[in-house]
Amino acid sequence: MSDEKPYWEAGRQAAPSPARRGRRERDSFAGVAERWERRVGTVDTVRVDVVPPGGGGVPHSYALAPAALLHEWKPFRGRRLPAGVRWRQETESRFVLEFPLPLGTRCLGLGELYRGTNRRGQTHVLFNSDDPHHTESTPRLYQSIPFLICEASDGCWGLFLDSPAPQKWSLGNDLSDHARVELLTRRGFQLYVFGLTTLPEIVCAFTELTGRTELPPRWSLGHQQSRWSYPTERKLREVAREFRRRRIPCDAVVADIDYMDDYRVFTVSRERFPHFEKMTRALARDGFRVVTILDPAVKRSRRDATYRSGLRHDVFCRSASGEPYVGQVWAGASVLPDFLREDVRDWWGEKLRFFADIGVAGLWNDMNEPALFNQPAPFDPAVSELPPDDQQLFLQRPPEGPVGHFEVRNLYGSQMARATYEALLEHHPNQRPFVLSRSAYAGHQRFGAVWLGDNYSWFEHLRLSIQMLLSVGLSGVPFCGVDVGGFGQDADGELLVRWYQVAIFYPFFRNHCALGRRPHEPWALGPATEAHVKRLIEVRYQLLPYLEGLFHEHRATGAPLMRPLSWHASGDPTAREIDDEFFLGRDLLVAPIVHRGQERRAVYLPTGKWHPFDGGAVLTGGRYHDVVVGPSAVPAFVRDGAILPLADPVQHTGELPGANLTFHCFGRQASGLYREDDGASLGYQLGECDEWRLTWSRGRLRAEPTQLGFGGTGRRYFVASGSHREAFSLPR
Ligand code: GLC
Repeated sequence: MSDEKPYWEAGRQAAPSPARRGRRERDSFAGVAERWERRVGTVDTVRVDVVPPGGGGVPHSYALAPAALLHEWKPFRGRRLPAGVRWRQETESRFVLEFPLPLGTRCLGLGELYRGTNRRGQTHVLFNSDDPHHTESTPRLYQSIPFLICEASDGCWGLFLDSPAPQKWSLGNDLSDHARVELLTRRGFQLYVFGLTTLPEIVCAFTELTGRTELPPRWSLGHQQSRWSYPTERKLREVAREFRRRRIPCDAVVADIDYMDDYRVFTVSRERFPHFEKMTRALARDGFRVVTILDPAVKRSRRDATYRSGLRHDVFCRSASGEPYVGQVWAGASVLPDFLREDVRDWWGEKLRFFADIGVAGLWNDMNEPALFNQPAPFDPAVSELPPDDQQLFLQRPPEGPVGHFEVRNLYGSQMARATYEALLEHHPNQRPFVLSRSAYAGHQRFGAVWLGDNYSWFEHLRLSIQMLLSVGLSGVPFCGVDVGGFGQDADGELLVRWYQVAIFYPFFRNHCALGRRPHEPWALGPATEAHVKRLIEVRYQLLPYLEGLFHEHRATGAPLMRPLSWHASGDPTAREIDDEFFLGRDLLVAPIVHRGQERRAVYLPTGKWHPFDGGAVLTGGRYHDVVVGPSAVPAFVRDGAILPLADPVQHTGELPGANLTFHCFGRQASGLYREDDGASLGYQLGECDEWRLTWSRGRLRAEPTQLGFGGTGRRYFVASGSHREAFSLPR
């Protein structure tokens, strides 16, 4: 045995000399580390590029938006990293980051975790996993977004550890004032520290780096009805028919895995869906889109055309032995495309023409952690060393060359969604794609929506949905939701109604339910439940013009749609602690019932005046109010000074452009922006969008056009204040 010290203890090594260099780290790290700085958005940001010895360069970042890859950075002039952040390499495959976490500092973001919005006091594992046991002791879930916001009384700072390798974030556990992050990797990575600023500015900066969500197709913001499964075309059409017969608004019906032949991707079971194309056309005439599930795994069968084509193009991930890796998923023995490779994403994209041909409007990427039945937990979070490359299930090939799967696992789902999203854009160049994904990494927002996986029909999970979606939004992904009514277990009427009272404010709004569980379509739990749910879904459709405005805002600023109270009430210590209420945009505060058997709750309203959405006395903020929330209530409050554009109820978004629209003005003086576009094309990116600045004062509404590029829909407009409503004409 050699008595040489391992290199990470051996002191500095000479580094290759790049033409221009950031400032070097001064510690015993034996690789290359350079420090850079730049203002990102309005935030002073320091970046550290870390490359372990022999590690080549910093690996390609899949998180950064294309524009951010071109950013110029200057060598960092400071001596220490902001916020006391320090890092070191502890062993050959383990890096450690540490920073002080003074008591009272809250930890926000960090993507999807089964935890409250404040991630403090626990250890979180970032290793994308399909873990069906969603309980307090679940340390990791389907998505990993290594972006943390530390919120103290004097402002927020942020940390983005851009590495898709396994990470463990211990945030002030045991009431300590210290955070420690372990990153298990042998590759390089980049670390960003965002300097002290406000919560909105931090998220703005992070999304300037990692990108933002483009406007979704309007139909995808409507109600979507799913279940595992509607296994035949007759059943799917029957569900759609029920919505129209009962006059409950809905835009999409979803086909889960049983539409496929033998669970093989890019197939349709002609036994159960003999006329799939005719079905999608008939449903389209009735205002329904069809969304289908699309999993990554390809059945290993010589009889399967996708498998044969994949072998020919060498697209599948290979084990260290050189053979395509075979895992067990729905179709039995299956292989996995390596979505980190551009040629594989192109190959996948070509296959996707299949869906255009059969009239599918949107795709739902599931099982893309990737989930494997034979490897439910491929990595033990207790472990503090990364296994060698050849013991990480299989290898993947990012641009830098082959690497063990665990090192890059957290990218798998996002890159699958990217392949799907980019292909839809290519096949329909002027249509907004809709792609829903279960797994995600930082920057996922560029590829569409996420939902948070297999929750349960529990009040606990209804309450958690608020906290989890707030966190996902702060982590850059605004288009998110959870299975309404809960996936596992059985919902009852009370839970379903309470769930819809929250869900009509989720950016992504889909009712879904697991195989074998009691159905919970809006009418399935009896007439009383149906009546309440119907009214709530109608309100969702009325709110769509407001919701679309929030997507425009996200595109400009990175602001999530669902926001914690501290977003708009930063100096208010009470607001900061509340996470069973949230803002939808600036003007709506949602305070739902999240416990069984409750009829009333304490609602905290920040400073200002607040108008109950359903009408009634104006409430003064800066304190709690005892509020009764009946089953047909809309548990929201409108900010005094807001102008809320509300459409008349419609059955689906196809009817929305023709629906009357009323500007509801709250208070004596109010202001806002109102935008209109076609809701479907990419024309808005070229200015095909109308926008007005609205001001309400002395009982009169003024609308000043700031952009006129769309041309309007011919609908009628009204202005309302209290119970008074009159016609209004928008100047064009
Ligand atoms: C996974 C998904 C779930 C889906 C099921 C069958 O559990 O998370 O939503 O219904 O697979 O495809």
